[in-house]
Amino acid sequence: MLIDSHAHLEMKEFTNDRPEVIERAKLAGVNIIVTVGTNLRLSREAVSLAGQYENIYASIGVHPHDVGKIGNTTYDELKELAGRKKVVAFGEIGLDFFRNIAPQLQQIKKFGEQLQLAKELHLPVIIHDREAHDQSIKMVKASGVRRGVFHCFSGDYEMAKQCLDWGFYLSVPGVVTYAKATTIQNVVKKVPLSSLLVETDCPYLAPDPYRGKRNEPAYVVQTVKKIAEIKGISREEVAAVTAQNTLDLFTIGASLHS
Ligand code: NI
Repeated sequence: MLIDSHAHLEMKEFTNDRPEVIERAKLAGVNIIVTVGTNLRLSREAVSLAGQYENIYASIGVHPHDVGKIGNTTYDELKELAGRKKVVAFGEIGLDFFRNIAPQLQQIKKFGEQLQLAKELHLPVIIHDREAHDQSIKMVKASGVRRGVFHCFSGDYEMAKQCLDWGFYLSVPGVVTYAKATTIQNVVKKVPLSSLLVETDCPYLAPDPYRGKRNEPAYVVQTVKKIAEIKGISREEVAAVTAQNTLDLFTIGASLHS
């Protein structure tokens, strides 16, 4: 069992060959893909894909880059979407103080509101945190939300410990395969496998040897391989444990456990 816990298959980068991309993932042994909405329109697309493919699940929410698009009815529409089949998480939501596409104060306000929405909906959260580690963890704790994952984890080991103490998982992207990515490699080494998920975040962040190309779920295999090397364990164990962690966090199909 192998799961890509964070992809963006609904994005336009996959318009021309989405079925082939999904097929290649299957051939690479990726059993399940969680595709993650980043605004209302793309959240709808994510839910639609989950309806079309038995191995795809969806997450819904508004990414910090897109919070300027949140209108009067957006939250009501997200609530309605949350009731659809195979919606397993709320996100990605969070803070991006690196690109600052939306003003920081607006990001903070909308992140707080969406954390409350996730809580109301009893959904685990997928957190996007870039250059905003202290503020992100502080807001997650203040919200009282105890189930979630810091996706594309980019903090150090101290930050990782805080997330784990709060009961959150960390998701490892293809970045871990880059030679210079020593911070995430160190985190992977020290943090127990029972707290890790793996993801592609495709179409972004392709792992070596595909760096610079469009990423896709099949490439999550490279991330598993690197984690196995770092931890000195088998790829099968990394795949199986991270998959089980994902199933547990997102409470995906008990029938899959057999
Ligand atoms: Ni993402």
